[in-house]
Amino acid sequence: MCLPETVASNEDYTKIVDTSDEWIRTRTGMRERHISDGSPEYLMSVQSAKEAIADAGLTAEDIDLIIHTSVTPDYITPSMSCIVQGLLGASNAACIDINCACAAFVYALDMARRYLITGDHKNILIISTELLSKITDYEDRSTCVLFGDGSASCVVSASEGLFASYLGADGTGAHTLFARSFPIDNVFSEVKSLRDFDGFVDWKERKIYMDGREVYKFATKAMADAVQKAAEKAGISVEEIDHIAAHQANIRILETAASKLNLPLEKFYTNLEHYGNTSSASIPICLNEMNRKGILKKGDKVCVVGFGAGLIYGAAIFEWNKD
Ligand code: UT7
Repeated sequence: MCLPETVASNEDYTKIVDTSDEWIRTRTGMRERHISDGSPEYLMSVQSAKEAIADAGLTAEDIDLIIHTSVTPDYITPSMSCIVQGLLGASNAACIDINCACAAFVYALDMARRYLITGDHKNILIISTELLSKITDYEDRSTCVLFGDGSASCVVSASEGLFASYLGADGTGAHTLFARSFPIDNVFSEVKSLRDFDGFVDWKERKIYMDGREVYKFATKAMADAVQKAAEKAGISVEEIDHIAAHQANIRILETAASKLNLPLEKFYTNLEHYGNTSSASIPICLNEMNRKGILKKGDKVCVVGFGAGLIYGAAIFEWNKD
């Protein structure tokens, strides 16, 4: 994983918006997050990818597919995966970018598994990198305190063992969490359907808008549903899951999901205290830390579960197969 050096504490936010350390800690569980100095996102992607490839005992040439996830790519085109492929020298890799917001790591893992099954691809590099500071509105206290920057990567290869996933979305909630890619004041801004979808024509360009309460309600239900459905597909009970690496959006969301699933909160790895919400990077950052701390043992049943803008959600359950 790779995190920018600069750390912003809750106290730092009290200097720019009307907030307090107490509000942020009790409402979200967060204390600090890493914020980029403005360097390109691909530099973080390359760093975390190199680490993952080395940890897998491979070289860049061994990678035959790169899936890059981000809501803040450096360019509209070319894709982040192509830029990173070139910088890594991963000359045998095909390249795909996906935008599935904070659930993107789960979607990427599901996708990787499907590519592996065909036998056409052997080593798939998933890179999840987010520079949310680029699209955070630092005048909006209800969102700016939540987001952090970061990157984490992993290599996925075929193995015997369990894998099941459940993916879902509810596009009728698209307007509850969004950031524009282009200004709206052009000829098409008069098109009715755009106005209908939008509902926020005055919203600042390219910054995150979120109806926190609506997303919160969606998140608590979606997380529990996705884990339950993935467990059903895996043919196991939720109690049999050893570890859950969930999207780190709010400690209260994790507590509610744990209680809905009737699981102890200890099964949920949490680090949002230190990184805030890093969108699609949050789950692989968790996995990376769990791996390094020796929490994950070969054969353990791991569940990854995410939700985010779309609204989108998903869970995957797999056996950890690394020594
Ligand atoms: O990864 C993408 C998915 N995103 C999420 O999962 C986020 C989901 N939503 C949440 O985590 C929570 O809804 C928030 C943390 C965003 C907000 O917590 P909340 O308990 O739902 O607060 P609220 O929006 O109901 O606001 C309660 C009060 C309001 O004041 P009034 O109207 O009661 O006077 C807000 O203006 O808290 C106020 N408030 C703040 N006060 C101090 C909102 N943000 C802040 C702040 N500091 N930073």
